[in-house]
Formats: sequence, structure tokens, C-alpha cells
Amino acid sequence: MKYVVGMAGSSGSIYGARFIRAMAQVPGETYLIISPPAIRVFREEFQVKVTNAEDILDFSLTHWGSVDTKHVFHFRPHADIGADIASGSNIWQGMVVVPSSMKTLASVRAGLADNLIERCADVTLKERRRLIFVPRETPYNRIHLQNMLALDEAGAVILPASPGFYQNPKTLEDLGDFIAGRIFNLLGLEQNLFSKWTPNS
Ligand SMILES: Cc1cc2nc3c(=O)[nH]c(=O)nc-3n(C[C@H](O)[C@H](O)[C@H](O)COP(=O)(O)O)c2cc1C
Repeated sequence: MKYVVGMAGSSGSIYGARFIRAMAQVPGETYLIISPPAIRVFREEFQVKVTNAEDILDFSLTHWGSVDTKHVFHFRPHADIGADIASGSNIWQGMVVVPSSMKTLASVRAGLADNLIERCADVTLKERRRLIFVPRETPYNRIHLQNMLALDEAGAVILPASPGFYQNPKTLEDLGDFIAGRIFNLLGLEQNLFSKWTPNS
């Protein structure tokens, strides 16, 4: 199975990092595209000197202890709107933008395809493949809400970065894994990142 994963420049780098770490542990291939603002936010949030997508993947796979990688990651430059995956003739099963800025949501909603994340999202929608956005902003203004509604109507899934607390998370990683697990569910992948809800009261 092939996937495209974009990270845009919103807060919530941990959601992207925990998701790609979890993906690394399942068989498959992922094309990774990381925007320059995402790299900047990653640096701020983890206080680490990452400068490119390779650094971010390496950090995500080692920072919490090394993981056994069963996955192949390919890197594609954010600015390369002529990359192989810019065309729907290349097949991937799903695309995730995690985290997603309001700017990337707005661009995709408007049909812009000014960079490779936006172009791949546009292609994913036109090819009627699974497209998941994990937006992070608070509060939302009406423009944000209208953009999310329009994307939902166009076939995308809006999976807000709002982890549940009924699993009694103890760490930031637990919160990241809750969102990563929800993305896995939507991609139809088995996950053990959090347990299914079982009422005990
Ligand atoms: C530290 C930092 C945190 C940010 N957090 C958010 C955020 O939570 N949500 C958001 O929509 N934009 C946020 N931004 C603004 C985006 O990075 C900015 O709109 C950028 O143009 C997004 O570009 P991209 O979507 O191509 O990555 C943040 C910027 C910085 C520097």
C-alpha cells in the first residue's frame, strides 16, 4: 500500500511525528512532503535542529527509542510541483496532511496547487481517493469552518487534532498516538496505538 503524507506549518508537530513513527512499523510505502513552515514549527516545538524532511523522519523514528522499520519512505521536495506524485497516474491509497495549517486547507479548498502538498491533495480528491486533514487552530473563524465544510463536501475527511481524554492519557505521546490511531482507522489499517473504548462505570 502506498500513501502520501504531508506536514504543514501548524502547531502539533507531535501528531505528525507520532503518525510517521507508527507508519514506519507497518509494511507499505510513504511519500513524505514537509513544508518549510512545518520544519520551522517542528524546530520550535521539539527544540531540535531539524532542517529537512529526512531530519524530521529520523527524529520521529529515534527520539522515543528506535523502532523496527517495515516501511519505505520516499522524500519529495515541497516545491516540486512536477514530482512523480504530482500526477494521478501514480496510484496511492490515501493521503494525510498531519498537522494541517489553515493556509493549506484554504488553498486546497480553493483548488490551488501551488506546492506539492496542495497538488497531491488536489489529485487525491479528483481521483476519489481517501484524503484526511488534521487541522490545528483555535478558535476557528468562519472562513476556517467554511473551508472545512467545503472540503468535507468534496470528499475529504476532517479529523481535528482534538484527542480524547477518556483513554486517560499520561503523556504527550499518548495524545499524539490517539490521533495517529484515528488516522490508521480511517486508512483501514490495524492499530494498537490506543485501546477500543470499554465502559467500566
Ligand atoms: C510557531 C508557529 C506556529 C503556528 N501554528 C499554526 C497553527 O496552529 N495553525 C495554523 O493554521 N497556522 C499556524 N502557523 C502559521 C502557518 O505556519 C502559516 O500560515 C504558514 O504559511 C503555513 O504554510 P503551509 O501550510 O504551507 O505549511 C504557525 C506558525 C508558526 C511559526
